[in-house]
Amino acid sequence: MLKRPLIFGLLFSMMLSAQDKPQLPDAPGKAVTQKVCSSCHGAELMLGKPHSEDGWGAVVADMIQRGAKGSDEEFYEVIQYLTQNIKALPKLNVNKATAQELARVLVISEEQADAIVQARAKAEFKNIEDLKKVAGIDGKKIDAQKRRLEF
Ligand code: HEC
Repeated sequence: MLKRPLIFGLLFSMMLSAQDKPQLPDAPGKAVTQKVCSSCHGAELMLGKPHSEDGWGAVVADMIQRGAKGSDEEFYEVIQYLTQNIKALPKLNVNKATAQELARVLVISEEQADAIVQARAKAEFKNIEDLKKVAGIDGKKIDAQKRRLEF
């Protein structure tokens, strides 16, 4: 009898997480960047930390070492796209943010965000490991946003 809602809940959360995955900004070069850069990891690794053209060149060279495949033209386009379109994301202070902000940035439910607020009322979080210890929190979701979090 309990099975049905469980399965629906699971499907629903899968749909939600697919929708809320951080996306690359819309601009020329997005398609080639997705093609060349999304086979190993999500866009979240590329978001939030701007670099100069040389800086992105070094990142891309590192990715080529790791196995990224593309033509010279494609890599050039990726570097231009990232240099022009990746902006710094505002940091979220986990000890001060409201439950709504936590839910939105961490892509978690309101209940989970409330659990974080309640846990921090007892003791402020010192680091990401403290945050992951909150009951019911998925550590992978925290890791996916770790570049945006401060304590
Ligand atoms: C063959 C697999 C692969 C491909 C393709 C790939 N990457 Fe990566 N990338 C990695 C691995 C492995 C890491 C390290 C993951 C980690 O630190 O969790 C990484 C990490 C990163 C990081 C974070 C580095 C840091 O120090 O914070 C950035 C930025 C990044 N990749 C950008 C790109 C871009 C841009 C492309 C397209 C040119 C790309 N990646 C394509 C494997 C790949």
